[in-house]
Amino acid sequence: MNNLTADELRSAYLGFFESKGHKIISGASVIPENDPTVLFTTAGMHPLVPYLMGEMPHPAGTRLTDVQKCVRTGDIDEVGDSAHLTFFEMLGNWSLNDYFKKEAISWSFEFLTTKLGFSPDQLSVTVFKGEGKEGEEGYIPADEEAAAIWRSLGIPDERIYRLPREDNWWGPAGTTGPCGPDTEMFIDTGKPKCSENCRPGCHCGKYIEIWNDVFMQYNKNAEGKYEPLGRHNVDTGMGVERTVCMLSGAPTVYDTEIFAPIMAAIDALRPAEGGASGLCDDEILRARRIIADHMRTATFILCDPKGGVKPGNVGANYVLRRLIRRAVRYARQLGIAPGFTPQLADVISKKYAHVYPELAENLAQCKADLAAEENRFNQTLDKGEAMFNKVAEQLKLHGQNQISGKTAFKLYDTFGFPFEMTLEMAAKAGLGVDKEGFEEANRKHQELSRTTSAGSFKAGLQDNSEVVTRMHTATHLLHAALHKVLGPTANQKGSNITPERLRFDFTWPEKMSDEQIKETERLVNEWIQAGIDVTKKTTTVEEAKKEGAMALFGSKYGEEVTLYTIGDISKEICCGPHVANTKELGSFKIQKEQSSSAGVRRIKAVIGNM
Ligand code: ALA
Repeated sequence: MNNLTADELRSAYLGFFESKGHKIISGASVIPENDPTVLFTTAGMHPLVPYLMGEMPHPAGTRLTDVQKCVRTGDIDEVGDSAHLTFFEMLGNWSLNDYFKKEAISWSFEFLTTKLGFSPDQLSVTVFKGEGKEGEEGYIPADEEAAAIWRSLGIPDERIYRLPREDNWWGPAGTTGPCGPDTEMFIDTGKPKCSENCRPGCHCGKYIEIWNDVFMQYNKNAEGKYEPLGRHNVDTGMGVERTVCMLSGAPTVYDTEIFAPIMAAIDALRPAEGGASGLCDDEILRARRIIADHMRTATFILCDPKGGVKPGNVGANYVLRRLIRRAVRYARQLGIAPGFTPQLADVISKKYAHVYPELAENLAQCKADLAAEENRFNQTLDKGEAMFNKVAEQLKLHGQNQISGKTAFKLYDTFGFPFEMTLEMAAKAGLGVDKEGFEEANRKHQELSRTTSAGSFKAGLQDNSEVVTRMHTATHLLHAALHKVLGPTANQKGSNITPERLRFDFTWPEKMSDEQIKETERLVNEWIQAGIDVTKKTTTVEEAKKEGAMALFGSKYGEEVTLYTIGDISKEICCGPHVANTKELGSFKIQKEQSSSAGVRRIKAVIGNM
């Protein structure tokens, strides 16, 4: 194996595909241009969907290669183990209806064996095993073509695994969109199999996935059926961090040259002794990794050229706040002094600015935002800790050793003190916490606030996040109304919400007539007046789709998602938040209907009391 740095890997990859006729294009923003169903760009294909669909030719041609910054925070609680990251770089090569399986697989094999130096013996691959019966609806054949290409390259059949949709199907992006079977490449680490059933895709650590070639031959249509796309695209993805880790033989991504300066900086910020008292080595390791991961992600988000995501309480802003606050919390555990977040941003910028110039250009603002959020949270924590200490003192005075659920909830609700911190501090002070009582108080409180807001809607004084939440629910109603008025092909292409207005892009070939606009507006207002409850539940992508929901962009099958339902009007997989009842929107008015791009219309609308 060739021990490449991230810089060397990026240039080896782009150079290799350039030599195969690909144009190197820039990766896109990590903040998606126009899509509320994903808060961040989660894969390289995401910004290329219109070209994969054939809606327009890509200006750079039909063979492209790039490095895409990706943020995936679904597994944020897993970060700190050896593998999970909330930010990563994805290398990709693309055929826009140009080459197909033979070239894609052969080049993948060539790159892995000649440029990265893996031995063909280390490679195992998976292909789609097909589903349904020939002649029956929904039949999709097994990808024997991909298997045959692998065999022709010397991979024996016993290392070609045929797996179902959960493993070997990618997409679609959004409700409808391009998708297809994929072939995934795994490196056998040489560890023994964990069981007889151990195979690529098993999480025991024997097989590590290194690359995914997706063959986009299908389109998922508005009825949820897979129809031939009429194009043969290739979408591939190779993770930079994971690949560098494997090539270097490092035990985890945090032990690679990518993270080395960040981990070193964290260690330099730690007090020489006594900082992390009470923590065992594993906890210290986990805290260091969480700080490194979260600060890297937060720095990329804050420096993103598109801008606009700041720490806050809704959507992407909330994810960013959570990343920063978790880093601050773990830094406190390690005894790191306040003011560390801008210092780590400096280190991260230094590591990446030659590849991502925005990390230098936008660094000053990023550091200011980090410092402000760190400071705000530290003040909250200081107050919470002082309150906690008072509580603990009182309990001890009365010879008690249990913090009630009500008190823990008060610390959380009134003082913003995270419940985990109550647990941690209680453990240190030798006190118990009534966890069930806390959950109960939390549940009751949420029910109460839902009833209050549903029962007594008033425009009142609201902060921006409340307005944005109402706009967000209005967007779901608008989407449903467009489906009723224009039909199921009027699908969401994007959305953008500010406290002043909502903006909604959807596929539709022509200008809407005045009657159509009026009818859409009338329907939304009718549903608002009807006072329909908005409910949410956690489910899987498959289950949600079975219920006829709009799908989450890029979500993998089996992934847990939140499904928001508005009576029988709308069902969408979405991160929320939403109001409890449509009455809270007041009223809805379309201000503008205009063209957004070829085949895409844009509506701007407002809500308010009329
Ligand atoms: N879009 C594919 C992935 O993210 C390549 O794995």
